[in-house]
Amino acid sequence: MTETAISVEPISPLFGAEILGLNLSDTDDGTIGQLEHLLLRHRVLLLRGQSLTDEQLVCISAKLGQLDIPAPNPHGEPFHKAHPEINVISNIMENDKPAGNLGAGEAVWHADMTYQDSPPHAAILYALEVPEEGGNTYFADMYAAYETLSADMKFKLEGKIAIHDASHNSAGMRRKGYDDVTDVRETPGARHPLARTDAKTGRMALFLGRRPRSYICGLSVEESDALLDELWAHAAKPEFVIGHCWQRGDVLMWSNLEVLHRRDSFDNNARRKMHRTQIRSFWSETKPAESAA
Ligand SMILES: [Fe+2]
Repeated sequence: MTETAISVEPISPLFGAEILGLNLSDTDDGTIGQLEHLLLRHRVLLLRGQSLTDEQLVCISAKLGQLDIPAPNPHGEPFHKAHPEINVISNIMENDKPAGNLGAGEAVWHADMTYQDSPPHAAILYALEVPEEGGNTYFADMYAAYETLSADMKFKLEGKIAIHDASHNSAGMRRKGYDDVTDVRETPGARHPLARTDAKTGRMALFLGRRPRSYICGLSVEESDALLDELWAHAAKPEFVIGHCWQRGDVLMWSNLEVLHRRDSFDNNARRKMHRTQIRSFWSETKPAESAA
């Protein structure tokens, strides 16, 4: 695969790009470097018509950076026993047990695993089975959301920290081992600045995580709810959003800290199965000398 074989078609004027002419099952180090560069620039990358084994998905992901191993399923086992690095996102039942996470319901706007102190920087989602309709995925650009805030709001956000809820997943299901949250000031989860600067691009992004059970530290619950509602109404405006209707063989990669994503519900009688990897940090961030070699 050579650099000249790849073409880049922007999905919207703000962000997102479809990458054409790139076969992910045939990547070399140059291609991996290009992918990282393109992800940094466009935040969301779409590659259609891919045919990847699980080994290839893990291999490509591991070439980009340090992998984040997903949490075990409710039975204490990885969803993908042969490749625990792979998270299975599916509504399919196998032997009366869920084959993956999230079911068929809607997943509200969120960034993945920001309830951790060091959430993953990127995600790769590969479509193995898709329903005929529903289950679309949407992304919202948090650079644009931040940059279009008023000067007064930017000033108001300086130094503000919010709690990112660890107790529920993006489909609203309570995670094992957590009690329900009755006071958002006591929501369990990591605390992050509401606006963060990307170390590589120097651009600031709104960093909201997810709305349910969020709380801005130091404010009254009423003040926190009012400010969060205002920020979320702004961040999810249609002009900051792109959508994707899945086809089997699609791969979406996204910068987890610079975009939000959500998913439509779909018919639970239909089958939807995705394999996902997450990159905690890129090798270029942790091993700059090696990546430059
Ligand atoms: Fe997600």
